[in-house]
Amino acid sequence: MNKRIYCYMTCLLVCLLDVTAQEPRALRLDARKTGATIHSTMYGLFFEDINFAADGGLYAELVKNRSFDFPQRLMGWKTFGNVEVTDENPPFKRNPTHVILSYPGHDHKYTGVENEGFTGMGFKEGARYRFSASARATTAGEPRAIRVELIDERDNIIAREEIAITSTAWTKYTVELRARAAADKGRLRVFLVSRGAVAMDHVSLFPVDTYKGRENGLRADLALLLEGLRPGVFRFPGGCIVEGTDLATRYSWKNSVGPVENRPVNENRWHYTFPYRLFPDYYQSYGLGFYEFFLLSEDIGAEPLPVLSCGLACQFQNNGEECHAPVDALDEYVQDALDLIEFANGDASAGWGALRANMGHPAPFNMKYIAIGNEQWGKEYVDRLEVFIKAIRAKYPAIRVIGSAGPYAEGDFFNYLWPEMKRLKVDLVDEHYYKDPDWFLKNAARYDKYDRKGPAVFAGEYACHLPDRANNFYSALCEAAFMTGLERNADLVHMATYAPLFAHVDAWQWRPDMIWYDNTRSAATPNYLVQQLFSLNKGTRVLSLTSNGKPLAGEEGLYASATRDDNEHCYIVKLVNTAREERPVRLSIDNVNRGATLLPDVDATLLTAPLARENTLDQPDAVSPVTSTARLTGNALEIVAPPGSFSIYRVKYK
Ligand code: AHR
Repeated sequence: MNKRIYCYMTCLLVCLLDVTAQEPRALRLDARKTGATIHSTMYGLFFEDINFAADGGLYAELVKNRSFDFPQRLMGWKTFGNVEVTDENPPFKRNPTHVILSYPGHDHKYTGVENEGFTGMGFKEGARYRFSASARATTAGEPRAIRVELIDERDNIIAREEIAITSTAWTKYTVELRARAAADKGRLRVFLVSRGAVAMDHVSLFPVDTYKGRENGLRADLALLLEGLRPGVFRFPGGCIVEGTDLATRYSWKNSVGPVENRPVNENRWHYTFPYRLFPDYYQSYGLGFYEFFLLSEDIGAEPLPVLSCGLACQFQNNGEECHAPVDALDEYVQDALDLIEFANGDASAGWGALRANMGHPAPFNMKYIAIGNEQWGKEYVDRLEVFIKAIRAKYPAIRVIGSAGPYAEGDFFNYLWPEMKRLKVDLVDEHYYKDPDWFLKNAARYDKYDRKGPAVFAGEYACHLPDRANNFYSALCEAAFMTGLERNADLVHMATYAPLFAHVDAWQWRPDMIWYDNTRSAATPNYLVQQLFSLNKGTRVLSLTSNGKPLAGEEGLYASATRDDNEHCYIVKLVNTAREERPVRLSIDNVNRGATLLPDVDATLLTAPLARENTLDQPDAVSPVTSTARLTGNALEIVAPPGSFSIYRVKYK
């Protein structure tokens, strides 16, 4: 190469480097500019029995239609031999149907019933299962017995026990079975093994190893995932399920407490909502009811936030006044709300408080919030809500009441409801947004300019919806970008809960969802990981974090927020890069607390993956965070944010 060409090539290279090398973006955390205290409720959970989230999901019962009280009495069951279905002389008044197993007429024939579970029953090798049933000998005299078997998908018997039925009075019988082998789609069989007949009801099978080992308990893996989010608030039980397809099928909390055997079966409003995802066998046993909800909230350290019907059936499905409870006939509904507060918080010696105590929890649950109505709209909602607010404020002035901004994040319903919520002086307004990535990115600054004089915001349901509704890394990344805006505005936004929470891979109606599972396995989605990273790195105070004097909310695809954690003595910076290129950032931490010094080692957590990647049951950790240690130089941290990444830096001080 001659000298002239060499010089030319060198110049070109230098020019190219000049163009491509990016100056790091200056990001300034001003530790003296403290913002709001971050509410303990900031990141939480929203549970609704959709996608078989309760029966067939979190609620660990393995038997479908255990009480034979689905409208098709034997749904979920196969019978063989001489089986009669009857309502006469029932053990449980509110679930009266039961079966009578009688001699089939020949010693080499069999009588019995077989339950298919919720898309099968998951059995783990070596695990113990607790079978129970209410039963009685139909007449006095000869001994009676039943045989209980766990069956795998190839029809092998993997556990077997017998129970003698010793009384003609209804009695609860229990036996434990140990599964010799595993099954993903197992079944339960119960045979009559005596000549004399046996009546049987509330046939139940639970793993012994439930969350915290409780009977009538929760699936341990799923409950532990909830616990792992360290949620600050727990919204329950819906969602549209609160409203019902009609008022008759709305969620009635009073039906969900007391002995489980006597909680009447309800139709699940999601079983025929989507004709292409029809589940005609979807009912609510209410086994996971309001008592279990309060207990779980306590276990996982979340404030319970019940949502009750305001007297409007789902407005998407009911548009005549006659479908709803009239404004002047809301007494029953209002009383439900007052009684629920008493159930949760009242004295253990009387009334609803005594029921709570009888169920095993004499101490109050210390409930502080109540939401009236789910996604309601219009004057019909406002008129009803007003009645509730008056009654609740009069009797329980300390309870914080949550109203709805309707089903959409903007538009006529929303614009009408917000001023009405201010007029009614609700404490928080529940906003919902199921939106595309673009909306989430554009709305990262949504709350920067909200009116601070009105009620606080509860982002009660949200999820980024891609065209194929995948739970992939990109959807989670957009949620992370948006959540930096929630955090920056924590003075206004006091709660946020992703939705929906759970979905069974073989029986879902709606996606995306935060946690997927089959009968034995579960997977936390990238969306779960984003929620978890925000929650575990919440901090206690918002801090000012700016780039060019402004919050970073989308410039060059970057989003950021910062907090201080007074308990763990650190500054926490969250940085999201949605661009397809890496972004160099120089973070400076100015005006550290008086007398404090920054420690040079910074805990860094990085969540990044190809945008379309998902966590599946076979590969539950395909997307997972990686931790490392970064190093401060003076008060500055040089960061290179990879394309499509969410990173968290915890800068400690002492
Ligand atoms: O989360 C699923 C549904 O979405 C909820 O039931 C409802 O509130 C919303 O429309």
